[in-house]
Amino acid sequence: MDPIELSLQLKKPTGEAGKEVAKVLNESNHTLYQLAFESINLQKDDKVLEIGFGNGIHFPEYFRLQPRLSVTGVDYSIDMCEEAKANNEDLITSKKLGLYCKDTTDLPFSDKRFDLVVALNVIYFLDPPEVHLKEIHRVLKPGGLFLIGYRPRHSVEHLAFTKQNFILYEPDELTALLEKYNFEKVRADTKSYQKMAMDDTILNITDSCLLVKKV
Ligand SMILES: C[S@@+](CC[C@H](N)C(=O)[O-])C[C@H]1O[C@@H](n2cnc3c(N)ncnc32)[C@H](O)[C@@H]1O
Repeated sequence: MDPIELSLQLKKPTGEAGKEVAKVLNESNHTLYQLAFESINLQKDDKVLEIGFGNGIHFPEYFRLQPRLSVTGVDYSIDMCEEAKANNEDLITSKKLGLYCKDTTDLPFSDKRFDLVVALNVIYFLDPPEVHLKEIHRVLKPGGLFLIGYRPRHSVEHLAFTKQNFILYEPDELTALLEKYNFEKVRADTKSYQKMAMDDTILNITDSCLLVKKV
């Protein structure tokens, strides 16, 4: 897949190619989800919203960590919503998980509904960011948390697919952006490691999570 098409598929996975991209993401983003789950310390009865959930194979992990959660997901890709529904039938039937095919510019929820909003590898696509960040702020309870999982600019800007359709951030830029829209930094976690690519080259990966609080 050429870099422009890949960037578009990462922004909004569509069709059979989008489903294949989502499967690759499951492998490449597994460590970022692990870091995120370490950062958020889920509480019993928390109401969680995840935006941009992809094919949603990670949803059971929330309930393994905290069985009494209520989790809601929003993704604007019809194909990802269908995949995620098929991958989580039991959680949906038992009403622990609700999935919506919606854009984060227009979240179908009342104000102050969620304790925590999670967005992994989504911040790059929120353009312009303020529209999305205001909606996320609106649906969070006072003092509610927002966890952003991402790869900092210096670690991914050399990759051809990030050269278009992505907004990349360094950690201090992302913190400043969130502060501008009435969030306060709680903690930041980073893990760097090397991985062998399919062509036997070594990849340097940096997983970063920023946890902020609604003020
Ligand atoms: C790169 S994928 C990340 C999927 C998964 N979170 C992961 O880390 O593997 C980005 C996802 O965010 C969704 N997305 C991007 N912008 C969105 C928006 N404005 N509203 C809802 N979903 C969005 C895309 O459809 C896609 O499923």
